[in-house]
Amino acid sequence: MAVIKKVVDWIDVRIGIREVAEKELTEYILPRTINAWYSMGSVLLFAFVLQVVSGMLLLIYYVPDADKAFKSVTAIMNDVPYGWLIRMCHAVGSNMMVLALLLHMLSVLFMGSYKKPRELNWVTGFTLLALVQAISLTGYLLPWSQLSFWATTVATNSANAIPVVGPYLVEFLRGSKLVGPPTLGRFFALHVAFIPAVIGALIGAHLFFIKRTGISAPPFGQKDSSNHWQGDRYRHEEHPGGIPFFPNFVLDDLRSIAIYMACLMAVVFFDPYLFFPKDAFIPANPFVTPAHIKPEWYFLANYQTLKTFSNELIGLSLQGAAMTFLALLPFVDRGNERHPLKRPLFMVCSLGGLLLWIGFSIWGHLS
Ligand code: HEM
Repeated sequence: MAVIKKVVDWIDVRIGIREVAEKELTEYILPRTINAWYSMGSVLLFAFVLQVVSGMLLLIYYVPDADKAFKSVTAIMNDVPYGWLIRMCHAVGSNMMVLALLLHMLSVLFMGSYKKPRELNWVTGFTLLALVQAISLTGYLLPWSQLSFWATTVATNSANAIPVVGPYLVEFLRGSKLVGPPTLGRFFALHVAFIPAVIGALIGAHLFFIKRTGISAPPFGQKDSSNHWQGDRYRHEEHPGGIPFFPNFVLDDLRSIAIYMACLMAVVFFDPYLFFPKDAFIPANPFVTPAHIKPEWYFLANYQTLKTFSNELIGLSLQGAAMTFLALLPFVDRGNERHPLKRPLFMVCSLGGLLLWIGFSIWGHLS
């Protein structure tokens, strides 16, 4: 104990660690009525760190070369000690992270936390959603299986529908006319370097905005007594009568993270191939097109929309319009009311949109 105190004293003299810890942890006050949905953000932070660490470990044995990639992944699964565990945590983890992202997004949507003055929290969050999808899409190609190869062929092909620039964009994404070794090179670079760096920076911005505005009080139950607005001036980070972030809310966060880990491990140990169709076990072959090639579950609605319209441009434009509308939602939905039951138009539109997305995903899965 005395040694720990000495170390902390040493650091404190140099960087004032105690003052930082007080300001950021014990004196960082959250609304008293805060609920478990608010720990989804911390779950996502944890999930992202898990992806980075497991990804770094996979890089020790993975070879980003079209002739060797599939073999290197097979060796990670069969020969490297605990390689299967690391790979499964990474692959299943990416699906679980998207699920956690959707839950986080739905909770801020239904509690109206995206509204003024939290527009920037929403916009950075929405960009993170797009980037997490992009990092999953690029990662899908890396094992160089039949699934990787053909799913990437279908996904990149959809850009062809864009008038004039479409064909150039497809070639730019692939690095050649067809999916091939140059595609693997650029998807690898995007997956392990560019996109994680941008995600890291955006998470920093997201957290900064959250800290500056202060977390929103839930619109349910007892009213939060904080009065942030004084005329046109906004008083940042204040929740009088609230609870400290540490230790109170950190314990809630840890409980949610433990539940997340339990779900992840349940899939890894009891149904590891839940997200792996059989084409994931066959090396890529550009001359044999599999009968049924489908994207991951969270792209099924996009895939089905493209298939539904005979003109792909219509499907693509509809998706672009829906994404732009969602990205700009806080600037469109400007009312002050945040309770979901007191926003009937919002409830009808959002539940309708959600059901449509689920319906299209199921249709995409069955078709
Ligand atoms: C890697 C992805 C993300 C991470 C690590 C992350 C992290 C966090 C954290 C730690 C919080 C504070 C606690 C909480 O409310 O949960 C938060 C709040 C928030 N997030 Fe995210 N988030 C991510 C993605 C998103 C997405 C996709 C959206 C929406 C499109 C979003 C919108 C928001 C909003 C509006 C808040 C403020 C909530 C409030 O003040 O009540 N975030 N996020």
